[in-house]
Amino acid sequence: MNTPHPSSVGSFPRTRLRRSRRDDWSRRLVAENVLTVNDLIWPVFVVEGEGVREPVTSMPGVDRLSIDLLVEAAREARDLGIPALALFPCIDAALKTSDGRESANPDNLVCRAVRALKAAVPDIGLWCDVALDPFNSDGHDGIVHDGQILNDETVEALCRQSVVQAQAGCDVIAPSDMMDGRIGAIREALDAAGLQHVQICSYAAKYASAFYGPFRDALGTKGALKGDKKTYQMNPANTDESLREVGMDLQEGADMVMVKPGLPYLDIIQRVKTTFAVPTFAYQVSGEYAMLKAAINNGWLDNDKAVLETLMCFKRAGADGILTYCAVEAARLLRRG
Ligand code: PBG
Repeated sequence: MNTPHPSSVGSFPRTRLRRSRRDDWSRRLVAENVLTVNDLIWPVFVVEGEGVREPVTSMPGVDRLSIDLLVEAAREARDLGIPALALFPCIDAALKTSDGRESANPDNLVCRAVRALKAAVPDIGLWCDVALDPFNSDGHDGIVHDGQILNDETVEALCRQSVVQAQAGCDVIAPSDMMDGRIGAIREALDAAGLQHVQICSYAAKYASAFYGPFRDALGTKGALKGDKKTYQMNPANTDESLREVGMDLQEGADMVMVKPGLPYLDIIQRVKTTFAVPTFAYQVSGEYAMLKAAINNGWLDNDKAVLETLMCFKRAGADGILTYCAVEAARLLRRG
């Protein structure tokens, strides 16, 4: 990112860049970035029931877990040093409506999961997604009326969803819905409910991406989705627009921002970080995970090297942390050294 000072530009043969690459100690010494377990946030899928572990076919190695098994998984993640989990509920079809009202039920699946996790593993951070899609019969992140996604009505619903999740004990409210004005409204709703300490991470630069397909399989929202999300998520062709969106969300009170997807959008991470210098997170999304694991399971890529390299690339681009389905395996690999 920094332009080299003229005096550091040498020429061959007096300068040989391979000198510092020769030994492991030296490579470690001159490394410009490090990846540690403190950089990882683990997204998890929660389902109703007890003792339930359902593999997600398009995400090899990822399971939907009932709350009891999720608590065990959270304990393991905490013991590995992973700072936080991001929760995604898989809601029974019978509870889905076009206004997604189950999202504001203080006893819904995600709120029960938060309470159970906070009781059993209080020292791991909990991030909750804010958007209506898990609860919406049309699979959209907002309230649908006559085929339109209503902005301001949705924002009110998102405020209610944020407050019940925060009251259940969620530490970070992470709106991923891309409605206009939701960060400011959610901040006010949290503050009015005495929840000033709850952080907001805005999915500010969230693109209308093909890479969310396996996530929609995991949540069972794929079949439900009518149309696409292009009227609220960003066009992959745009960069400047993401800076505008991040700027507005920060002004509205976001504590942190997210760029999503991850690897194909490293340029956005770098521009957001260098422009705003605020905590910036990247989401290595389900489709990226599926792509990686498909090649690995075919024997075409080395699992451990490929996983750690992708995560390091996020750090190099400027991310302060990464949401990744590889969090647990990466934490184990980093521990082994
Ligand atoms: C929805 C949401 C999505 C993801 C996180 N929150 C999907 C979407 O916008 O359709 C995707 C995450 C992933 O693909 O791993 N609010």
